[in-house]
Amino acid sequence: MHLTEEERQILDGAFGEPQRIALNVLIKLGDAYGAERMVEIASAHIVGSSYQIAGEAGIEIYSKLVEQGAKVKVRTTCDPGSIDFSRWQVFKTPPDYAERQVKIAELLGQMGVIPTWTCTPYTAFNVPRYGEDLGWSESSAVIFANSVIGARTNRLAAYVDVCAALVGRVPRFGLHLPECRRGQVLFEVASELSDNFEDHFFPVLGYFVGQKAGDRIPVINGVQKATLDQLKAFGAAAAASGSVALYHMVGITPEARTLDEAYRGRQPADRTVVGRSEIDNTLEQMNTGDSGAVDIVGLGCPHASIDQMRRYAALLKGKYVHPSTELWICANTVVEDMARQMGYIETIERAGAKLMVGTCHNDCPLGAWNFRRLATDSGKFAYYTPTTVGTKCIFASTEACIEAAIRGRIGSL
Ligand code: F3S
Repeated sequence: MHLTEEERQILDGAFGEPQRIALNVLIKLGDAYGAERMVEIASAHIVGSSYQIAGEAGIEIYSKLVEQGAKVKVRTTCDPGSIDFSRWQVFKTPPDYAERQVKIAELLGQMGVIPTWTCTPYTAFNVPRYGEDLGWSESSAVIFANSVIGARTNRLAAYVDVCAALVGRVPRFGLHLPECRRGQVLFEVASELSDNFEDHFFPVLGYFVGQKAGDRIPVINGVQKATLDQLKAFGAAAAASGSVALYHMVGITPEARTLDEAYRGRQPADRTVVGRSEIDNTLEQMNTGDSGAVDIVGLGCPHASIDQMRRYAALLKGKYVHPSTELWICANTVVEDMARQMGYIETIERAGAKLMVGTCHNDCPLGAWNFRRLATDSGKFAYYTPTTVGTKCIFASTEACIEAAIRGRIGSL
């Protein structure tokens, strides 16, 4: 790989041991993928911020880095942690577990990581520009940055993201190269679905596309309009059920103003029509539980936006969550503050719902709750919940989820 003079100096240890090790890791990664050189990144976003992911090994690694004076070189934000830092007792987190998460927070802070604790850093703290190179992990954020914004990042693994943050570079391969961003498989949304572009349609479509596309770049044609929250929900589901890191939605995302642009003049390798039966079959797969009593309802995956908070508040106004059901809404601190100022949190909390800030159901230890059946409007939660939370999962619209929280039971979508 071609290295610049500065990169050679980093390898010689001129900027300290953490940078030397980090660059070595990145060079090995680049060599494995045939990268010819490094590219400077505008920002990093790391996932090893959660004790659930990092564990004791993470604490050991971060402690060593801090001892050696490691500092991030570019703006670096972090994914949700494993606790709500101000309310972990409310979520029955064991104190010794919370303490380990606080330790990680201290170490990351000493390295200069911005304590965002969110999977939606692009809402406020770390907003990329079109065409910018990044070093991000967190599958739902990577797919949003690549697809909706047009920034460029591969889906980095935990700790590789930290290496990128420490040297402000990543090897230039994959989605950093314009020729590797062309669409590969086509999904034609049938016109029979054109009346169905409601919020809950997007995670189901994403889930279906992710399963079929795997790690290829899907092009979705036939969606007439989509809000940012709908694109966020679509991408999170596609990145969970498959390992999609970039999609093009024709007429909606910036690198696909037309079908031709999405393919950059080539023909798709594969074409799938998405009609009513594909959506119904996918819904069936997303539901691992039957309708009936639910003990936990999870909203805000990926972390809720201010528009979603407004909607939750409107749906909960004057209502009460059923005494045998928990309703948890995940968000980041910026959205929490704004929602508090707007009066949404007061309405939400008065109804008995709980705000879960800086973390989520999938990152927290929930053993003390003995949940059996979770309802959610998130395709990503629907994919991971059976293994991470260990419950059956019912996927439903936001309205149906809130209704389920109020009634303590859920019917079908
Ligand atoms: Fe975010 Fe947790 Fe969902 S990290 S994308 S709220 S699983």
